[in-house]
Amino acid sequence: MEQQKKSSFTGSIGFVLAAAGSAVGLGNIWRFPYLAAKHGGGLFLIVYIALVLLFGFALLLTDIAIGRRTGMNAGNAYGAIHKKWKWVGHLTFLVPSIILMYYIVIGGWIIKYIVEFLMFNGAEVAADGYFTSFIKSPVAPIVFMLIYLALTAVVVYAGVEKGIEKFSKIVMPILLIMIIGIAAFALTLSHTDANGVTRTGLEGAWIYIVPNLEGLTLSKFVDVVLDAATQMFYSLSVAMGIMITYGSYVKKDVNLSKSVTQIQLFDTLVACLAGLMVIPAVFAFSGMDGMTAGPGLMFIALPKVFNQMGIAGNIVGIVFFIMVAFAALTSSVSIMETVVASCMEYFKKTRKQMSLLVGIIAAVCAVIICMGYNVFYFELTLPNGTVGQLLDIADYVSNSVLMPLITVLTCILIGWIAKPKWVIEEVEASGHKFGKKTLFTIVVKFVAPVVMTILLLDALGLFDPIVNFIAGLF
Ligand code: ALA
Repeated sequence: MEQQKKSSFTGSIGFVLAAAGSAVGLGNIWRFPYLAAKHGGGLFLIVYIALVLLFGFALLLTDIAIGRRTGMNAGNAYGAIHKKWKWVGHLTFLVPSIILMYYIVIGGWIIKYIVEFLMFNGAEVAADGYFTSFIKSPVAPIVFMLIYLALTAVVVYAGVEKGIEKFSKIVMPILLIMIIGIAAFALTLSHTDANGVTRTGLEGAWIYIVPNLEGLTLSKFVDVVLDAATQMFYSLSVAMGIMITYGSYVKKDVNLSKSVTQIQLFDTLVACLAGLMVIPAVFAFSGMDGMTAGPGLMFIALPKVFNQMGIAGNIVGIVFFIMVAFAALTSSVSIMETVVASCMEYFKKTRKQMSLLVGIIAAVCAVIICMGYNVFYFELTLPNGTVGQLLDIADYVSNSVLMPLITVLTCILIGWIAKPKWVIEEVEASGHKFGKKTLFTIVVKFVAPVVMTILLLDALGLFDPIVNFIAGLF
């Protein structure tokens, strides 16, 4: 604990950039655009922003306040609020541990793409079957995963101030400039396909921004809300223990409410810009068909788009994947930091010892995840109806099940047992007035637990049967 207390962010800016670095990651650049594209753009965007404003603020603030008030990691923080709730802390520790082992696998794929684009192999990367054959290969995904893990571990090993804060302060502004640059470029695109149809990036942007309510049914709308809500968790790094850990490094004079607003703004701005960068480009080159590429959008559809741009596309490919690597690294650093910091507390060992131990265990687990595409390949239908391999199962357990579950439990603890004033006092401890007290209380006590329970039931495949059962009663 002593070691833990010695680490802290130097001030508000360092904290906001590190937390924004954690929040801005694959969630914004890989997940958000494909979900927005899947739901036709505009409507998803509006629902997402509404959810972030309503819930995101309360959930993010709760995590950070728990960290700062207790000065502990999730593992012990819940027990410090209420002895009987210590187990929720251990449950929360599981989330970054699971995410780390597959996030570094995806990080490795990004490094591989950077290398290929740097070697001007854009055409090969764009070929049909390239991505699948790469992830199925026995050695390359493991080697690139290890490179990515080493990059992550170096920052964590260097510590909070010299590692995480310094890294985030350099990388985050560069990331923002790169995203704005590529998004502006995407808007200038124009492409005429083999049938002589010309589509422009600006038309794509219109589809992305303006909601199309044609054919919208209640069940489709519920789907949009559920996808947007899951995305919000993932993107804001809430319910992962990360923001509790980062909160424990925040000095008492930092204005938490203002910092949370800034983190949210940064995260949402990057997500929206990522959509503006990806969707117009995919629309211009692949039309509405390209929009349904799903999770493969970034690794399969985008390289095809870059390839059609000729030599310029290869340069865009380099810049794009370096930018994605930056975003992913600041997130994986926060994920690994949370696991390492918790282990330091659990085992009373130094940062260096625990960075090494966590690094080795993460490497072993990630090798198994890589092998999920060859040696250990199988297809499992998950309770939410999707079919997955090892990586998808890890993602499902952490994001779809544990995160909503932890949020419901946290809301019960803070909303009903410790009471919202527990957080409000901490927010006002810096001497700043907390203007959104009432909204915070309503969200933590009522709105968030209900919506998150629905999310959880949906993930477990129980939502539709329950709705049908209730409908049958009338
Ligand atoms: N919040 C992180 C991301 O968006 C985990 O990737």
